[in-house]
Amino acid sequence: MPGVTVPALGTASAWRDAARGLLGANVPPEDVLWAYDGGPGDLFAMEPAAFAGGSATVPRSFVALAETVCWHADPERFARLYALLWRLRATPALVGDRGDADLTRLRDMEKAVRRDMHKMKAFVRFREIGGAGGRRRFAAWFEPAHHIAEPMAGFFARRFGDMDWIIVTPDRTVEFTGGRIALLPGQSAPPPSEDATDALWTTYYRNIFNPARLKVKAMQAEMPKKYWKNLPEAAAIPEMIATAEARARAMQAAAPTLAPARARKITERLRMVEDEPAASDLEALAREAAGCERCPLHRDATQVVMGEGPREAPLMIVGEQPGDREDLAGRPFVGPAGQLFDRMAQEVGLDRDAAFVTNAVKHFKFAAKGKRRIHQRPDASEVQACRWWLEAERRLVRPRLILGMGATAALSLTGRGDGIMKRRGTFEAAGDGTPVLLTLHPSYLLRVPNAAAKAAAERDFRADLERAVAWLSDADGAA
Ligand code: URA
Repeated sequence: MPGVTVPALGTASAWRDAARGLLGANVPPEDVLWAYDGGPGDLFAMEPAAFAGGSATVPRSFVALAETVCWHADPERFARLYALLWRLRATPALVGDRGDADLTRLRDMEKAVRRDMHKMKAFVRFREIGGAGGRRRFAAWFEPAHHIAEPMAGFFARRFGDMDWIIVTPDRTVEFTGGRIALLPGQSAPPPSEDATDALWTTYYRNIFNPARLKVKAMQAEMPKKYWKNLPEAAAIPEMIATAEARARAMQAAAPTLAPARARKITERLRMVEDEPAASDLEALAREAAGCERCPLHRDATQVVMGEGPREAPLMIVGEQPGDREDLAGRPFVGPAGQLFDRMAQEVGLDRDAAFVTNAVKHFKFAAKGKRRIHQRPDASEVQACRWWLEAERRLVRPRLILGMGATAALSLTGRGDGIMKRRGTFEAAGDGTPVLLTLHPSYLLRVPNAAAKAAAERDFRADLERAVAWLSDADGAA
């Protein structure tokens, strides 16, 4: 019986070559014994030449599926993939059959690997360990659930190309020195602990933590406890949770109290909606989006940033794309533009927490400049690719009104991004007829250099927010 030992290095391409050869030689799945060589270096226990020359036409989506599933930790993954590949030869349409148990199992494995990759992007924490030749040097320890260090190496090389680093995992070490990647054996224990970088992460996490929006379950779903032991900032979590209520009360007491009566009414109504249980379908959508590769922006961004807020929020607020802070935090509008928005919304009695806040584009687009990541406006094709997610959010939330902030939101929602200064303050319609109130983007307010122009822009923006509150209040009255 042919036995194929797939190596730990280059696993996906080695499996593909072997499977292609076996298929070409007409070897049925039950006649193949698959094994994985956890150690580095080895190729095949059985000479690959024995299967050389095989070729098969395989649906593209299966190739992508196999490419990901090969990194799964399940020892049966190679056999499962080959069994499906064998069946696909006779029935290519199987690849789209949602009821097929084998395919469903493999799709679940694919999702698990993608989730693990997403967690690795979010939770790898570098510690500085000195440097040489002008390049700073960092080390990180991470314990993935699957064999993802190799397929993730390219992401970290692109993201942290201006420094040397090493990411150690139990089964693989990725070393990036002077612009070159090396894949080395793993290690069983983390490198040495605490340094100044840990303190930075803790401060950053404290700063983005909003006690008024604490949702312990959601937080633990996004940052599962098993990752805490390797996260410097995790030490601060129990204390932040314990003091969240008191801090939220203090924030509330310090907030402006002069909301107009109409605004107060709508705020109360929005709050009632917020109390409804979180919808599992938005969560499923977010899980699906975590693996989004619909446009190239996923390659450099840390993670996808989906909208947040109550499922049946009457108001949906749409911005452009996550910024640097949002990209790291995984939440929309938590950086400077978000803070400005929060302040002005509060002034007019618009409760952000009762609205669904999202972006037209879900990945951060930037150009690396030294250590800084400079925001780049998404182009029309990226906006178009991401409309798929925005539309899905809109269908699930079914807002009564959408507030589109800035040209990118206008483009995605109405099909036109031009002339936003003239169009702001007016109502248009989204593709499905939902009214869209257009306004300026809050980050524009942050950039206006001239004091008079800035004051005028702030006045306009505030007026538009008031318009949104009034519209919802009127619609409420009419309902
Ligand atoms: N700008 C946006 O458009 N969205 C964010 O989430 C943050 C900044």
